[in-house]
Amino acid sequence: MFELLVAKLLSRPAAQSCRLLKNRFYNRDIVSIKDLDRYDFEGLFEATDRISSLPLSKKQKIGEGRVLSMLFYEPSTRTIFSFEAAMLSIGGSSIGFADPHSVSVEKGESLADTVKILEGYSDIIILRHPSDGAARFAAEVASKPVINAGSGTEEHPTQAMLDLYTVMKEKGKIDGLNIAIVGDLKYGRTVYSLLYALARFEPQVFLVSPPQLRIREEALYDLENRMKISQHRSMEEVISAADVLYMTRIQRERFPDPQEYEKVRGIYVVDRSTLDKAKDSLIVMHPLPRAGEIKAEVDSAPQARYFQQAHYGKTLRAALIALILNEDIDFRS
Ligand code: CP
Repeated sequence: MFELLVAKLLSRPAAQSCRLLKNRFYNRDIVSIKDLDRYDFEGLFEATDRISSLPLSKKQKIGEGRVLSMLFYEPSTRTIFSFEAAMLSIGGSSIGFADPHSVSVEKGESLADTVKILEGYSDIIILRHPSDGAARFAAEVASKPVINAGSGTEEHPTQAMLDLYTVMKEKGKIDGLNIAIVGDLKYGRTVYSLLYALARFEPQVFLVSPPQLRIREEALYDLENRMKISQHRSMEEVISAADVLYMTRIQRERFPDPQEYEKVRGIYVVDRSTLDKAKDSLIVMHPLPRAGEIKAEVDSAPQARYFQQAHYGKTLRAALIALILNEDIDFRS
């Protein structure tokens, strides 16, 4: 049904297409990006475009009286604050914690109990947790929708949504692009969500990493059956062909042995000389925070999109919250 509605919405004249009568995000958990299909992405991107052009008075009504619970068991800057800013932008509010030591988790309260308490105070639960599977578990425990804001080394689905939205906005398409993903492909959870999101489209993906940080075998096997992927050791091998250069941080905190981290620290660095070898139309992305992978001198280059990417995150998350909270939204301004 939603496919039909989105198809209609995308093909109708603009004046008639501003209303999403139904949406597949309503009351839905966002645990894994694998649960979304291409229609979901296209509908979400359409909603993101539309919500950003609504007048403030109308936008503020969408989330009026609604509350987000933010349960962050790991540090965050972009995800936590963009969710909060997104909720404020649609007239709602947020409660929760950015530091589990500041709440009763410190006294030994379980994740299940914390979720059950916070769902009584709010309409959606946003969870970041160091354990794989934590978001799925929380979604099973909770009667309110749960959004995975990063679970262990496993997934970060809303990051992938905003990554794809950035590519769409900046390149106008995803199909047919050469997308190089560089760095820690083993422990970086954004990489897994991004790859499964890209697999709903038709890009060529270059995976660039040292051997010890290659994408996990089971994911590679699965993804190779879904889209065109090649593996590389050096950025030099792919930089001239790339349309998108997606850098990632080496995830120091997830290495079992600090000496292993030292072997790969600083292995890939983008600077102005890297851009000289690339297409003029290349865009450089990064989920951030960076830890030396992109030199500050690149920030003023026309290819730099990583700050814009983070800023798109606020609008996209506002659209996602709006769709989860409201079965019907009138996007007419
Ligand atoms: N990209 C991202 O998840 O950033 P934070 O860890 O700051 O939320």
